[in-house]
Amino acid sequence: MAEKRENWGSKLGLILAMAGNAVGLGNFWRYPYQAAKNGGGAFMVPYFAALILLGIPLMLVEWNQGRYGGKYGHGTLGPMVYLQAREGVNPRVARILGGLAGALALGVTVLLNSYYNHIIGWTLGYAFESATGGYMDKSVSTGAYFVNYIQSPSKVLVFWLIALAVLGFAVMRGIQKGIEAWAKFMMPTIYIFGIILIIRTLTLGAPVKPEWTPIAGLDFIWSPRWQDLNWQAALAAAGQIFFTLSLGMGIIQNYASYLKPDDDIVLSGFATISLNELAEVVLGGTIAIPIAYTFLGPEGLGAGVGLSFIALPNIFRQMAGGQIFGTFWFLLLYFAGFTSAIAMYNYLVALLEEEAGVPRKVGSVAVFVIYIIFGLPVALEPILTKTADLAYLTELDNWVGSYLLVVLGLLEVMVTGWLMGAKGLEEINKGGYWKISKTFYSVFIQAVTPITIIILLFFSTKDYIKAGYFKAIPSFVENSPALIPWVNFARIVMFTVLIVGFVQAYRNIGKK
Ligand code: PHE
Ligand code: NA
Repeated sequence: MAEKRENWGSKLGLILAMAGNAVGLGNFWRYPYQAAKNGGGAFMVPYFAALILLGIPLMLVEWNQGRYGGKYGHGTLGPMVYLQAREGVNPRVARILGGLAGALALGVTVLLNSYYNHIIGWTLGYAFESATGGYMDKSVSTGAYFVNYIQSPSKVLVFWLIALAVLGFAVMRGIQKGIEAWAKFMMPTIYIFGIILIIRTLTLGAPVKPEWTPIAGLDFIWSPRWQDLNWQAALAAAGQIFFTLSLGMGIIQNYASYLKPDDDIVLSGFATISLNELAEVVLGGTIAIPIAYTFLGPEGLGAGVGLSFIALPNIFRQMAGGQIFGTFWFLLLYFAGFTSAIAMYNYLVALLEEEAGVPRKVGSVAVFVIYIIFGLPVALEPILTKTADLAYLTELDNWVGSYLLVVLGLLEVMVTGWLMGAKGLEEINKGGYWKISKTFYSVFIQAVTPITIIILLFFSTKDYIKAGYFKAIPSFVENSPALIPWVNFARIVMFTVLIVGFVQAYRNIGKK
């Protein structure tokens, strides 16, 4: 390592950057429909259980892994996992574990971003559409408007490229002047926009039907429908905890690698979790669902992309001040997505910088190009197939957006808890404003957390088999032959990235 690694400029900057990393589209777009679909208030039970059993312990493990790796000049998972694993196993096995971790983290950072960046582009595009009144014309349905948007190269490609360019520009400036500075501006803005939107939501009244009120909408996601509580809901809750806290992706570690060796971990990790949960359960839960309920009733709480990009625009065009509130909503999504994507972007730049000696500026441009190449299929599918189906995106999301996160999480916690053993506890507590007890460490990090993840993986795997994701032609495209090549292509890309990731990490570790 020729150059000295950068550090965070201030505690506040670090916490806001970490919160920015965690607070993302997951909070505002993914969480509401997960909760609505999986039992409303009953979802909260597995959700908070997963937060305690998985979220908190893993967050501490990841901060610790990152700070540990940073001490040796590494911001990526391969070497980090290797360095910790070799405390407990021989270097050969440690190298293989490092290779696996590096492969999974590369898979997530490259592939998850190939579609996440698109969604960020859409949010920016829709902020623009809202501000300029694009979808306000009631003669076109907002569903048709959205399909037209994603099939229109001039819109979809332009906003995607702008979003990517701004990200690249920010990362190029480094940790303090880039990431930290943007987080300090964007994170407070998210909470302010969120509060404004909540106030607007709660004062909507009952414009459509007397029983459709924002409070009834809140009641809908908070009152437990116990009959909807099942294994599926528990898996969804655990998956949401991984996704929303950015766990199992390698990016919390990457940010933590810029800590100084004696910087606090435990309190800072809890602060990150608290800020994310505030943005998720309070802001995320109080905007989209109650608005949609007020205008569309319980039937209107459709899942996924539709809620943010179709149902809500349909409401903004009916509601007083809709153009302004629509702009706030999509800017909030844009900022949330941006401050998460920047972490992934930085992961890849750090990889090039540290493992291949590529200067940060050049690396930032290289990652821009990589993202365009890997993101192109996502953009082209709806344009070429002339449908709104996003099979390529869906296939990737099924694996890198959920399943592989859990696999990587398991590897991480086993390496710290089992292979580092008592030294893991010592490392986590070093320099801490708060410290965790030996009991917490041995009960959670060494036992409950890894065992829970193993159980989770077992049931997820069963679920995936049942849903037909393992089949040569996955069930979700069985009846649409035009989409099959897109799924196959996604699989080829995914395997290639994972193999390259393994070889890269394995060989680089060997050099040290
Ligand atoms: N925690 C992020 C969220 O809630 C997840 C994420 C981070 C996704 C970085 C992509 C990139 O949205
Ligand atoms: Na989040």
